[in-house]
Amino acid sequence: MKKIVAWKSLPEDVLSYLQQHAEVVQVDGAPRDALVAALRDADGGIGASVTITPAMLEGASRLKALSTISVGYDQFDVDDLTRRGILLAHTPDVLTESTADTVFALILASARRVVELAGWVKAGHWRASIGPAQFGVDVQGKTLGIVGLGRIGGAVARRAALGFGMQVLYTNRQPNPHAEQTYGARRVELPELLASADFVCLQVPLTPQTRHMIGAAELRAMKKSAILINASRGATVDEAALIDALQNGTIHGAGLDVFDTEPLPADSPLLKLPNVVALPHIGSATHETRHAMARNAAQNLVAALDGTLSTNIVNRDVLKK
Ligand code: 8YV
Repeated sequence: MKKIVAWKSLPEDVLSYLQQHAEVVQVDGAPRDALVAALRDADGGIGASVTITPAMLEGASRLKALSTISVGYDQFDVDDLTRRGILLAHTPDVLTESTADTVFALILASARRVVELAGWVKAGHWRASIGPAQFGVDVQGKTLGIVGLGRIGGAVARRAALGFGMQVLYTNRQPNPHAEQTYGARRVELPELLASADFVCLQVPLTPQTRHMIGAAELRAMKKSAILINASRGATVDEAALIDALQNGTIHGAGLDVFDTEPLPADSPLLKLPNVVALPHIGSATHETRHAMARNAAQNLVAALDGTLSTNIVNRDVLKK
């Protein structure tokens, strides 16, 4: 019988589905060595939120497939996996809408100071009708700049254009005719997007090309009234430059779901800034979507081990081996 290692706890029905196809060894929360040892004689692995390094796969000669319960795969050395003949599967699409909801929650919360003012009311400070000190800024009718118009970026553009009457600017390697025709989105270069947008929204995967793509110069190129939204990966932004820009009024505020270090250290300067909304990487974190992601990842893994997987494959070159 095949052996699968799970380094993330799985919903009961998903676990029993996998157990119909393999012996499943669960090492969620166990020390890293336990995961490495379990992978050594495994055929497949499934999980999330753990960086899997090439060193951790030394000696794992039977390993044929890994399945990440995420759309992002920056926690893997994909080239190394391909060299080893290990297929990597991921879970796009099932999380697109929930993550786009999180992005809009960040846009609305940072623009209208929802978290800050909810705390202000909770602290008993609402003693008279509010004034300019509690005012926020509009979202409806403003310009949203989406950096990376892929699946999630497209879902954000739809919400913005059709739900909030926003103008949508975007950068992307390829044009997106559907977004242009349906949402009136306009493709521009990054400098124009940064100079024109009221909200700059990062929707790119973390790669060597996108690491720190928003740094001090890009933040200075933004409007002083602009708000940065990041629900992609923390390292797409130079966090030290962002903190500086938020402290010095270079930009108006930020709505963040991802950080350089996660969990975000409690002493992070970001947590002392009133113009920052910080969430604990809840992009796809709904009961429905996390269950769908786990189910999708399990189906990907079983199909990959059967040699029948044709979608959700990160490293297709491995199929040529
Ligand atoms: C995951 C995400 O839940 O899918 C992604 O890329 O960032 C989230 O949906 C997270 O990666 C789990 O660690």
